[in-house]
Amino acid sequence: TMKDGGGSIKLWRCFAAGGTGALHKIDGVCRYPLGMSGGQIQDEDISASSQWSESTAARYGRLDFEEGDGAWCPEITVEPDSLKEFLQIDLRSLHFITLVGTQGRHAGGIGNEFAQMYKIKYSRDSSRWISWRNRQGKQVIEGNRNAYDIVLKDLEPPIIARFVRFMPVSDHSMNVCMRVELYGCEWLDGLVSYNAPAGEQMSLEGQPVHLNDSVYDGAVIYSMTEGLGQLTDGMCGLDDFTHSHVYNVWPGYDYVGWTNESFPNGYVEIMFEFDRTRNFTTMKVHCNNMFMKHVKAFRQVVCYFRSEADWEATPLSFSPVVDDVNLSARFVTISLANHMASAIKCQFYFAEAWMMFSEITFQSGDDPTHKIDDSNTRILIVCLVAIILILVAIIVIILWRQVWQKMLEKVRDATWSHIHTNEFFLSQKILTSTAVTASKAPIATVAQDGVPHYAEADIVNLQGVTGGNTYAVPALTMDLLSGKDVAVEEFPRKLLTFKEKLGEGQFGEVHLCEAEGMKEFIDEDFSFNISDNQPVLVAVKMLRADANKNARNDFLKEIKIMSRLKDPNIIRLLAVCICSDPLCMITEYMENGDLNQFLSRHEPEGQIALISNVTTVGYSDLRYMATQIASGMRYLSSLNFVHRDLATRNCLVGKNYTIKIADFGMSRNLYSGDYYRIQGRAVLPIRWMSWESILLGKFTTASDVWAFGVTLWETLTFCKEQPYSQLTDEQVIENTGEFFRDQKRQIYLPQPVLCPDSLYEIMLCCWRRNTKERPSFQEIHRVLLESQA
Ligand SMILES: *[C@@H]1O[C@H](CO)[C@@H](O)[C@H](O)[C@H]1NC(C)=O
Ligand SMILES: *[C@@H]1O[C@H](CO)[C@@H](O)[C@H](O)[C@H]1NC(C)=O
Ligand SMILES: *[C@@H]1O[C@H](CO)[C@@H](O)[C@H](O)[C@H]1NC(C)=O
Repeated sequence: TMKDGGGSIKLWRCFAAGGTGALHKIDGVCRYPLGMSGGQIQDEDISASSQWSESTAARYGRLDFEEGDGAWCPEITVEPDSLKEFLQIDLRSLHFITLVGTQGRHAGGIGNEFAQMYKIKYSRDSSRWISWRNRQGKQVIEGNRNAYDIVLKDLEPPIIARFVRFMPVSDHSMNVCMRVELYGCEWLDGLVSYNAPAGEQMSLEGQPVHLNDSVYDGAVIYSMTEGLGQLTDGMCGLDDFTHSHVYNVWPGYDYVGWTNESFPNGYVEIMFEFDRTRNFTTMKVHCNNMFMKHVKAFRQVVCYFRSEADWEATPLSFSPVVDDVNLSARFVTISLANHMASAIKCQFYFAEAWMMFSEITFQSGDDPTHKIDDSNTRILIVCLVAIILILVAIIVIILWRQVWQKMLEKVRDATWSHIHTNEFFLSQKILTSTAVTASKAPIATVAQDGVPHYAEADIVNLQGVTGGNTYAVPALTMDLLSGKDVAVEEFPRKLLTFKEKLGEGQFGEVHLCEAEGMKEFIDEDFSFNISDNQPVLVAVKMLRADANKNARNDFLKEIKIMSRLKDPNIIRLLAVCICSDPLCMITEYMENGDLNQFLSRHEPEGQIALISNVTTVGYSDLRYMATQIASGMRYLSSLNFVHRDLATRNCLVGKNYTIKIADFGMSRNLYSGDYYRIQGRAVLPIRWMSWESILLGKFTTASDVWAFGVTLWETLTFCKEQPYSQLTDEQVIENTGEFFRDQKRQIYLPQPVLCPDSLYEIMLCCWRRNTKERPSFQEIHRVLLESQA
């Protein structure tokens, strides 16, 4: 289903498997906001040609920020064809930039200035500036059409730079203001330029094949100097070099190639310059090998290394096996044997009349400049750093206490407030489980129509998904550590009897226990259908005794949040043990486990089931369960809680197909395949996540609705396969990009066999691109109920 000609998923961002930085180069993954909106880019690193006033200075040019007068605005109106004005960002190190976002000045409705068009210039060293052009050679990028919407543009080819300038362009004089963001990732290869002989032209059956480096950003005469281009654009060529992934380009576009006729020595020499001295492990060269057209990977490579000023005397030589059998283009990996170098010069020897490369990547080890050999100095420095850290920590704690005290006072007056949790919380949440976190504070920030406007809504950066996560809790539960306003009771630990372990995470375990006399401890509105004196089965989530203070605080916060959730379709927090360690929360136990396992054990009613004698679940039962999930989610959304991880694995099944939503999934290794680990960042359930959650880090009720659609799909397929099981994680992310671009190339989950059109219609509505067009849980619940009648 994936190869449907023009409409197929494009997977041409390539990477050399295994290298440290390599993963970052895949399209879709290297799309992190680089810190204009998130604040990681400092004010002093944002500058401009001019400013209209102090309140529209460069530092106000941050996407989705409303500080100052709401944007960066240059001093004078932008004239046609004058490229005098720019907003400049210094990223402090080289980055691979794949996407840019722009926005105008809205300022709560007062502003109405924006850039309809702009150009981008970039630099790696702040002295040589290069104008960005797309693959067709066009420089102007379409910008905004109003003052508030964020417009994102893919950079094709991507940019490798430290400095980036946005230059507003106009066809008539106008006032222009801009807010911007850059998206990408750090450029770990460290390559700042390669110099090579210019690519040549081949004549194939009378047709020219242009093997020049068409996106090279240095000087090109007889050779290429001081630039980067196709060999570092993350795009691997196809097996057949006359074809390309890129639309509407000439044959040979993806490759830079040379013929042995022009090189009497028998080799092509390429010189690579790096940002600093590095400890190199490998080089990977993506080569074409269409030997029937006289193209082969190289037969030998000889590399010279320069660390300080001098070239090392003995080069490194490597001869790959010449392949006369397999036509496919491939990465050839060359071990660089931990040579230290800031420049590498390699001579690639022809194995055939032609040699063609599409990509070269480098992998290097630790930053050697940070290594100090003298061990005494090292110990001294470690001690000094430790002392400084302790002092800083003390100061921070003192300040934090004061600030916190003030905040508490303020917050008590309001009904709702934000809390910024730290990085730790979410990683804990992700690894151990249960918190149902809330979205933006409803009363304080919702726009008139009750829906946060797209431009006003948070664009949390992807790091923000694991890090500065904003959620709301009622002010009355703010007094976190006193425990007095937890809406559930303390349960005597001795009345719990351990039965078995249900799950385990980094910060704790979930046990199945028997609890005696539970009835006295819980609200009368909640009924166990068991006689008074019988012990009941409960699930007990326990924080490890050695968990640090952050984990403890987060555990307590989680208790606060969960204790407020009272709905027949949400797992209920029954009681807690927080007076002594280890901290525990006691929740209902659902005897049939999670919905995923439950359905996997069952079959639809029908012939096969009759023969194989497995237990069946009817369509009406499936719909009944889906209705309950919708009902629980309707309750959560009414409180403006965003679940973030709705899936069958997080819905628990009780007697008679009752369903309660929980969030225990991540604590189990069982489902690790459902989560995608972004290097050193978070684990994310990408197959359930909306496009805006993946690309922009935005989690809202509308993204929960998307996940509901996937959950519904899982339910109707009896969880027999993972969503998009035929796609790899990278392809799922690529597909997300298609949802964002919305050019009818996105792949939807197919209609399950059992699923009537009306239900599939609901799923498709949940996966609409525009969040406002997705149905509410209220509507979904109503439609499901009606279809049941
Ligand atoms: C590469 O070759 C194509 C086709 O002849 C040409 O249009 C293009 O300008 C060339 N690019 C460079 C940078 O030489
Ligand atoms: C380069 O890295 C390797 C492996 O990490 C290490 O063993 C070696 O000592 C390093 N070389 C230098 C000169 O630092
Ligand atoms: C180029 O390579 C072809 C094929 O290996 C060979 O026949 C030819 O002699 C080579 N030409 C030169 C100038 O080395």
